[in-house]
Amino acid sequence: MMKRLGLAVVLTSFSAPVFADGDVADGAAQFIRQCVACHVVRDDAGNILAGRVAKVGPNLYGIADRPVASDVRFRYGDSITLAGAAGVIWSQENFVTYVQDPTKWLRDALSDRRARSKMGYRVRSDQDAQDIFAYLASLAP
Ligand code: HEC
Repeated sequence: MMKRLGLAVVLTSFSAPVFADGDVADGAAQFIRQCVACHVVRDDAGNILAGRVAKVGPNLYGIADRPVASDVRFRYGDSITLAGAAGVIWSQENFVTYVQDPTKWLRDALSDRRARSKMGYRVRSDQDAQDIFAYLASLAP
């Protein structure tokens, strides 16, 4: 009895990390398919963890719970800069909503119907967005 319990505990501790509703492996595939044309994931030491060298969009390293518009090397649009200055962070919910319609998310966040996003891309599935968030979260401590 104790032995079986011990085995179960060992197996559990070796299983893949789970980030809320996201599937890390699917997120990796979706990131390559949908994001690498514009984004890279580069750690603080300069190692590229995902993507190539795209600079159209900001570096997404450590995006989970990162302050909005905080890649100091990227020139953000005015609207997302305002959201960042207001102290908004990339919670899972904010991220998942944003990537499905960046302009709408900014309009809601700023209560400004004229807010605009420089990101001209939308993820078409909520599950894909959840999976990509889980994947990006898994790349940073
Ligand atoms: C066509 C280019 C393009 C594609 C494709 C694209 N993005 Fe973006 N993304 C951008 C740009 C440009 C910005 C900066 C937005 C601004 O300044 O308003 C951005 C901003 C972001 C931000 C805000 C980051 C921050 O530092 O606050 C997140 C999160 C994001 N993108 C996630 C994604 C994900 C995930 C994908 C893939 C599903 C993706 N993007 C695909 C161009 C793109």
